[in-house]
Amino acid sequence: MLGGPSSFLVSVFVLCLQADMFRGLAPSRNKILGSQVGLFRLYSQKPYNVPKASFAPPKAKSSQATGWRAFGQWLGDNSTQKKLTKVYVAGFGVCCIFFYYYMRDKYYEEKFSNSLKQKFLEDPDSLNEYEHLRLKLVLGDKLKVREQKTYDLYQALRKEQFRSSSPGSFHSPSPEELQEWYDRQPKRLVKKAPVPEDEEHVHEHEHEHSEVATNKTNPNIMEPADTTEFYDGMASAYDDEVKWEERAILMGMRRSQIMSRLEGDVLEIACGTGRNIPYLHFDKIDSITFLDSSPKMVEVTRNKFREQYPKFSKVAFTVGKAEDLLDLTGGSKEIKYDTIVETFGLCSHEDPVRALKNMVGLLRPGGRIVLLEHGRSNWDFINNHLDFRAEKRMKTWACRWNLDIGELIEDAGLDVAYEKRVHFGTTWMLVCKRPEDPIKVSEKTFLQKLFGTGPKTSVN
Ligand SMILES: C[S@@+](CC[C@H](N)C(=O)[O-])C[C@H]1O[C@@H](n2cnc3c(N)ncnc32)[C@H](O)[C@@H]1O
Repeated sequence: MLGGPSSFLVSVFVLCLQADMFRGLAPSRNKILGSQVGLFRLYSQKPYNVPKASFAPPKAKSSQATGWRAFGQWLGDNSTQKKLTKVYVAGFGVCCIFFYYYMRDKYYEEKFSNSLKQKFLEDPDSLNEYEHLRLKLVLGDKLKVREQKTYDLYQALRKEQFRSSSPGSFHSPSPEELQEWYDRQPKRLVKKAPVPEDEEHVHEHEHEHSEVATNKTNPNIMEPADTTEFYDGMASAYDDEVKWEERAILMGMRRSQIMSRLEGDVLEIACGTGRNIPYLHFDKIDSITFLDSSPKMVEVTRNKFREQYPKFSKVAFTVGKAEDLLDLTGGSKEIKYDTIVETFGLCSHEDPVRALKNMVGLLRPGGRIVLLEHGRSNWDFINNHLDFRAEKRMKTWACRWNLDIGELIEDAGLDVAYEKRVHFGTTWMLVCKRPEDPIKVSEKTFLQKLFGTGPKTSVN
């Protein structure tokens, strides 16, 4: 917590020392230069005129020196040196104080974590919400999106209380206290409020605003719409419209990374104009089915695929909505996939959670849903911009770009096996799995591989 300021002070301290060393080095630079020129003369065996100034001894200090020279003189002065010694000692003292507070906080945090573990072992039900979340983190579990939001609130409250309480006795607030505290905070997460028409609505929206913005409470998220007609009209121009933006943000690289995870029988939802076709690895893919709600988009994909892979026969092109996936299979238990992939599609679905649930229904055991999507960032100022431009975005791209993708995943009952966020957290690269499926070795982080599968005790 205090790491920032203390490291700043240490840097200032080191800079002071360097400035002092620089003062000592200044005269010797001339000597070094002189000896280099001399050596050069020796090896060349050809005496040549070297300006005398190169060997000239350093000039005597002049009292009218200006600029850096004056600064050097001031620094070399005995009285300045005495003062600087005091500054160094004071700086060191300040660093020690910050270090003490930093270590003290670390100590109490550690003590608190250990007491939580003990409390959990004695009586798991005695943990309140905050303690439960905290213990999950201590044991190395990843918090779900909504849990993380709640935990961040608790932490902000703890930080505020920290100043008015002794460090060892952090108070764990009840959900009511937390809500009351949150209501007092300036609302940064929900910027544009809908204009209430009558008294009743005022109270309705007051309630909405007292919560952290979610997909369900954020009034800036546009109403879902059927975007099929829009993308039908866009099909021929789509590639030209998006290609420069994608090149500018190196989206090809992201597409390539996410497509390298496809294997077995693959289903691509919302395939659009087949922008992922160049990144398919057919050494790992057995068959591929492309699906989109727009017939014209599917047509562009078909032409592109045929041009690139004229002989590949295990391919199908289907028109249909992701929300109707299970109906489209006619209830067949045979039609299952090892990987279902979707890129930038959830934002244009009418019901993205239903679409995801449908995908789960078509997965083979151990199968994966691979997503490259754009949505809410983890920075408030970016989210404010996404909210502010949400209406315009919907009109120009039929896309709800301020959805929280993590919440959609959570609402669909999926677990995240791999997650990477880029472009200020607005581009989500995800590999999702059913909760009952185990994590694959390739999905484990370096530390998980090094220390085993993770926590021994699971808190759910
Ligand atoms: C922004 S484009 C993305 C296209 C492509 N995946 C890409 O990465 O460029 C969104 C696509 O989703 C399709 N789409 C929208 N709603 C859909 C739905 N409910 N089911 C299937 N596809 C849908 C649109 O027709 C459009 O082709």
